[in-house]
Amino acid sequence: MLILNKTTGVFSKPSRRKPYEFLRSFNFHPGKLFLHKLVLGIETSCDDTAAAVVDETGNVLGEAIHSQTEVHLKTGGIVPPVAQQLHRENIQRIVQEALSASKVSPSELSAIATTVKPGLALSLGVGLSFSLQLVDQLKKPFIPIHHMEAHALTIRLLNKVEFPFLVLLISGGHCLLALVRGVSDFLLLGKSLDIAPGDMLDKVARRLSLIKHPECFTMSGGKAIEHLAKQGNKLHFAIKPPMQRAKNCDFSFSGLQHVIDKIIMQKEKEEGLQRGQVLSSAAHVAAAVQHTTACHVAERTHRAILFCQQRRLLSPSNAVLVVSGGVASNLYIRKALEIVTNATQCTLLCPPPRLCTDNGIMIAWNGIERLRAGVGVLHNTEGIRYEPKCPLGVDISEEVGEAAIRVPQLKMEI
Ligand code: KG4
Ligand code: ZN
Repeated sequence: MLILNKTTGVFSKPSRRKPYEFLRSFNFHPGKLFLHKLVLGIETSCDDTAAAVVDETGNVLGEAIHSQTEVHLKTGGIVPPVAQQLHRENIQRIVQEALSASKVSPSELSAIATTVKPGLALSLGVGLSFSLQLVDQLKKPFIPIHHMEAHALTIRLLNKVEFPFLVLLISGGHCLLALVRGVSDFLLLGKSLDIAPGDMLDKVARRLSLIKHPECFTMSGGKAIEHLAKQGNKLHFAIKPPMQRAKNCDFSFSGLQHVIDKIIMQKEKEEGLQRGQVLSSAAHVAAAVQHTTACHVAERTHRAILFCQQRRLLSPSNAVLVVSGGVASNLYIRKALEIVTNATQCTLLCPPPRLCTDNGIMIAWNGIERLRAGVGVLHNTEGIRYEPKCPLGVDISEEVGEAAIRVPQLKMEI
């Protein structure tokens, strides 16, 4: 049974989290009616239990997050039943913390928005069943959210970005390029044919045993690679970016992972180390994998921009590329993308790292966007299911490949 207090809406337990300096501040007047729409967003699609209350103008009134990264680092990857159990243990506290920090009474909420696709089935299930109970208890509309749509729209909470714009989403579970024409109107230009870049970086970090590295043991795989790469030489190993002959916007990272695996095996032999010991050349491996990833991502994105410009799908005077997802917090990859946007007269926008990774704010904001557009707001939740797999938008990646656009070589001096 949920223990939300509908009448006061203020919980005894104060939030331990600080409001974000980079988000606009909010003036709360006790006793006054909220004139803006207010949405509670709930995210449990992977390994973060997160919730936030956001208003129509993009003010974040309260948020809370419980990250499972530390637990999953120890098991060498996400074990779905463990993630499910951790979501179950934390969801009520996290939602209460977000609400209580917001000082919004649950009765004042305009709607509840929750990630229902795509993601880990067991994780999505916890968020959805909790949300449906809450919706039923509070008698509020429900807004089911596509996790990748939420990543794509986050930028509009912070910047005035008009549709259409191009988005590159790179995370641990996803890798895609899409044209965003409206709140729920996407053209999919390309996607990873195998694993996502974050997944590949996580696997390389695990293979390098960076959890045993004194500077990296608390970091996610991608973050550890970025950190270590600063101390390495990206050209120490000659690695070709993947898919150079395929003139489309698809991605591939598993081949690169195997190439790196072979390099690590060879180096272990040379250094007389066992698997599980940290190589003295680990920083060079990190620099090489990060550089190759950046070049691959930059080249596919460059082609997507050229395709959109050729078909007049982007504003000629104000073309915008938005990059988000956990891997977008990598500053080296951002710089590679900056080289591409400078060469193509586009504006590059990235949410701050904290909003690139999974969070409740993006889900609440997606709820606001849908409320304003009047799309996907449900007053009856019968038959609502989570969907572990769900493509984003209309897939035109074949058409992009048929255009076979040649991408001019850019100097990746980062
Ligand atoms: O968006 P996210 O929090 O979760 C989903 O996958 O949806 O992204 C997590 C991924 C992980 O694979 C993590 O290793 C990667 O983002 N990541 C990074 C960095 N920080 C997190 N990858 C590269 N550089 C980083 N600084
Ligand atoms: Zn995500």
